[in-house]
Amino acid sequence: MKIFVDSADLDEIKELASWGIVDGVTTNPTLVKRSGKSFKEIIEEIFTLVDGPISLEVVSEQAEDMVTEAEDLYNSVSKKYQKNVAIKIPMTPEGLKAVKILSSKGIQTNVTLVFSANQALLAAKAGASFVSPFIGRLDDIGQEGMNIIEEIVEIFYNYNIETEVIVASIRHPIHVIQSARIGADIATIPPKIIRKMSHHSLTDIGIKRFLKDWESVKK
Ligand code: E4P
Repeated sequence: MKIFVDSADLDEIKELASWGIVDGVTTNPTLVKRSGKSFKEIIEEIFTLVDGPISLEVVSEQAEDMVTEAEDLYNSVSKKYQKNVAIKIPMTPEGLKAVKILSSKGIQTNVTLVFSANQALLAAKAGASFVSPFIGRLDDIGQEGMNIIEEIVEIFYNYNIETEVIVASIRHPIHVIQSARIGADIATIPPKIIRKMSHHSLTDIGIKRFLKDWESVKK
């Protein structure tokens, strides 16, 4: 399973990329706001940090405006990085129209705010490169978010659909294990959860014990 960093925090992305575990990045307007940087500053640097799909979200609501915004974003990235641009488009009928147009122009799209397998199927039919089902937000309202990942992965497998499934809105490390067991293509994970994945208290105890024992070894 590929791991994307779900963040617009450039320092975090850089640090995690240095671990050798990052295959891409997803951002959204909330994450950009949280980073404290302008969207322009982020776009200027983010593509130099990770060589993989980087999702940038449009905020227009009409298909034509989404396409214009997407093309502006795409063109604002230097040519050598344009292959990694994935335009995030909300899952609406207007969004589907925009996806169809952008995919015919060879621009990758990531259909976001997906909350059902039917929405994912429509996004894939329209030509989305990626779909992002938000499992945590379903959990938040008392639905088992992971169920739609199972459904989408099964449907895409049945029909050899090439659209990749990005498990989004991940809230804890167990979500990552469940995503990988189901066979989702990608999990986009907030930095603090990636850090939790890397940690085990027995590893810390083990290191402490080895270091202590090493002190009493004759060198
Ligand atoms: C990623 O593409 C999504 O925008 C993100 O995972 C949403 O996460 P949230 O539900 O925690 O805001």
